[in-house]
Amino acid sequence: MSTNKYSLLFFFLIYFLKLHFAFSASISSEFSYGLNVYKKGNCMGCHSWHGKGGGGYGAGVSLRNKELSLAEIVNVIKCGRPGTGMPYFYKKSYKNEKCYDTTFKDYDEAYRPINSKRFLTIKQIEAVSTFVKELLQDKELTKEYCEFFFNEGSKVCLNINN
Ligand code: HEC
Repeated sequence: MSTNKYSLLFFFLIYFLKLHFAFSASISSEFSYGLNVYKKGNCMGCHSWHGKGGGGYGAGVSLRNKELSLAEIVNVIKCGRPGTGMPYFYKKSYKNEKCYDTTFKDYDEAYRPINSKRFLTIKQIEAVSTFVKELLQDKELTKEYCEFFFNEGSKVCLNINN
């Protein structure tokens, strides 16, 4: 290998290391409010801490394997999905503000939208949506994410290698 190739390799090494650190830095600051909302709303009760679903709801509620726009995510959290287990998190939904162009009186008992135990503000909903979009949707589960969710060095994250 020529010296040129070595320096190129070196360059890429530095580049990836930098990227790595940049990512962990942004993960802890920018998304921590969204993570707090994820915990506050007990999203992990149905979607798990890793966002792949599980528990009583199975893998069908994975937040990682789909591609929704940010606006669609905001709407699902605000309005829930009537007729499924996904509750709505915005207090005014179906009462003062229509969802999917409907209010409560458009539903019979079986499909009536269910509310979450704790309501969230629009600001909180937007933060948790950004969290879902940027860290979960279409992403692999990484050790960095795990340590972001729990704590650095957490036992839960020991077996995650990527
Ligand atoms: C009580 C259980 C439950 C809780 C709590 C819950 N979800 Fe859900 N969620 C579901 C179910 C079930 C679905 C799938 C609905 C369907 O079949 O379309 C879903 C779907 C979603 C979707 C749409 C996924 C897709 O790609 O279609 C998003 C986004 C979402 N949830 C985010 C959240 C967030 C963020 C929280 C916390 C603020 C949360 N959920 C709390 C049960 C729950």
